[in-house]
Amino acid sequence: MQNFTFCNPTKILFGKGRIQDLAREIPAGQRVLVTYGGGSAQANGTLDEVRGALGHAQVAEFGGIEPNPSYETLMGAVKLARESGTEFLLAVGGGSVMDGTKFIAAAVPYAGEDPWDLVVRKAPVKAALPFGTVLTLPATGSEMNSGAVITRKSLGTKLPFGSPLLFPRFSVLDPCKTFTLPPRQIGNGVVDAFVHTLEQYLTYPADAPMQDEFSEGILRTLVRVGPKTLADPGDYDARAAFVWAATLALNGLIGAGVPQDWATHMIGHELTALHGLDHAQSLAVVLPSMLEERLEAKRAKLEQYARRVWGLDSASGAIEATRAFFESLGVRTRLKDYGVGAEAIPALLAALEAHGMTALGERRDVTLDVSRRVLERAL
Ligand code: NZQ
Ligand code: ZN
Repeated sequence: MQNFTFCNPTKILFGKGRIQDLAREIPAGQRVLVTYGGGSAQANGTLDEVRGALGHAQVAEFGGIEPNPSYETLMGAVKLARESGTEFLLAVGGGSVMDGTKFIAAAVPYAGEDPWDLVVRKAPVKAALPFGTVLTLPATGSEMNSGAVITRKSLGTKLPFGSPLLFPRFSVLDPCKTFTLPPRQIGNGVVDAFVHTLEQYLTYPADAPMQDEFSEGILRTLVRVGPKTLADPGDYDARAAFVWAATLALNGLIGAGVPQDWATHMIGHELTALHGLDHAQSLAVVLPSMLEERLEAKRAKLEQYARRVWGLDSASGAIEATRAFFESLGVRTRLKDYGVGAEAIPALLAALEAHGMTALGERRDVTLDVSRRVLERAL
């Protein structure tokens, strides 16, 4: 196990009715800006519940943060927050609203010319507004981590950024607030959490038995409750297990002290930016082919994954089981399922190159050539 520092300052308020505790978490008298997405939080009553719970605070609102949140939209919120003297941000939504709010938090006090530099040049985040979240979609883990992925529509670019200053102060995880999710988003959420776990687990043996066991526990939980929560969205216990699994999959715990991959995510981001696939759809397409292409390099962990998660005895069997699991959740695993053909590959590789994604993976050996073969396998 490598040396590591593990620090996660996000306070979790888990369970039914926890929105009522919001007011206690935000310092009294602060000017709050509530951020939300395209309308689901309004339609299902979550936003009204938040408004009610914030009672005494001075509250402004900014809606319309879209899936794959864009710089173009978020700069509108930055302007509003600066003009209204916002002191605390509250994100109500899924990964896109939470990520967008992290960008707003860093951009408002940013002293440089253009906050896009935080994303594209990794300009250091020297200050950030404090913020909390109310989760409505279990998937990304953004509710308990300090990363975000931001899109600049005009450039067709989707890039991650982060800072230790961008952990939420608190996150409300009430599984009931996710009951209105459509099947597509539930399937997406299970796949995203599953792939987050694999990107940190399925590398090479690193003498880290706790991290392995935690990861395998998350994977087995998702295999068990994923189909259940998709089939019966109102089953509280199944949904609660899914919500917590998704949070634990990317809050730093399983990735501490171990090698990490993330090549699937980086290629997936280009597919979303250029072809509009949902984040999890892009992962479902890339991951099985990525594992096939790198089977020998990952053999030891693939065989462990096969045995301990699927009860199988071969690496290739585990890859097939993974693909079948994604398909069973309604998330298709081939580029052609999304209307993307071989002619799209050169532009995807050019985008990876432009973004410096030319040496990916836990051994930095996923070159553009490897990425090309992965995409060809995924057709
Ligand atoms: O916009 P509204 O109307 O709210 O609808 C949303 C959106 O259309 C809807 N939705 C959310 N909660 C709902 C609901 N519909 C009904 N009932 C509810 N309770 O779901 C749609 C998708 O929402 P979105 O937030 O885009 O999905 P997700 O949570 O999957 O987030 C995806 C984004 O997170 C990034 C992705 O790249 C993508 O941009 N990621 C962030 C990570 C992080 N911060 O650590 C890691 C991930 O790997 C990921 O990259
Ligand atoms: Zn993801």
